[in-house]
Amino acid sequence: MAKLNINGSIRDVEVEPDTPLLWVIREQVGLTGTKYGCGVAQCGACSVHINDEVQRACSIRVGDVRPSDRIVTIEGLSPTSSHPVQKAWAALDVPQCGYCQSGQIMAAAALLRRTPKPSDQDIDDAVNNICRCGTYQRVRAAVHLAANDTSRT
Ligand code: FES
Ligand code: FES
Repeated sequence: MAKLNINGSIRDVEVEPDTPLLWVIREQVGLTGTKYGCGVAQCGACSVHINDEVQRACSIRVGDVRPSDRIVTIEGLSPTSSHPVQKAWAALDVPQCGYCQSGQIMAAAALLRRTPKPSDQDIDDAVNNICRCGTYQRVRAAVHLAANDTSRT
C-alpha cells in the first residue's frame, strides 16, 4: 500500500514497494501520458516532476516516494494544456510520432523553472531525452520560444 500525491490528488495504491513508479502512474492511476521506453533511466520517455525536479519514473521505486512528495505528470502540467512549453511545442509542431514528447516537455518545463533563459548547451544537457524521430532541433527551438514567453510562471 502506498499513498501518493499525483497532480494534486492523493491516491492510495495497492502495490509492492519495489514497483516502479511508472507502472503505478500508468496502470494503477491510469495516467498514460507518461511513456515506457527503455526501463533503465536512459531515454526519458517516463519523465515526471517530483517536487519540481524532473525524474525518470521507470527507475524510482514507489516505496521510495513519500506521501508529501509532489508528483506531476504531463496531464498535470497545466489544466488546459497551455503551459508555455506546451504552447511552444504546438507553435513549432515539434512532435513527429509523439511517443517521446511528454518526456521532452516535462524535461523542458523543469529546465525553464530553474534556468529561465537557457543556452543551447543548457538545453542539450537538461533535455537529453532520446527521440527516435530526431526532433532535437525543434525541441531546442521550442525551449527557446517558451523561454521568451513572458506569461511563463
Ligand atoms: S523508460 Fe524511463 S528513462 Fe526510458
Ligand atoms: S517524436 Fe517520435 S520518438 Fe520523438
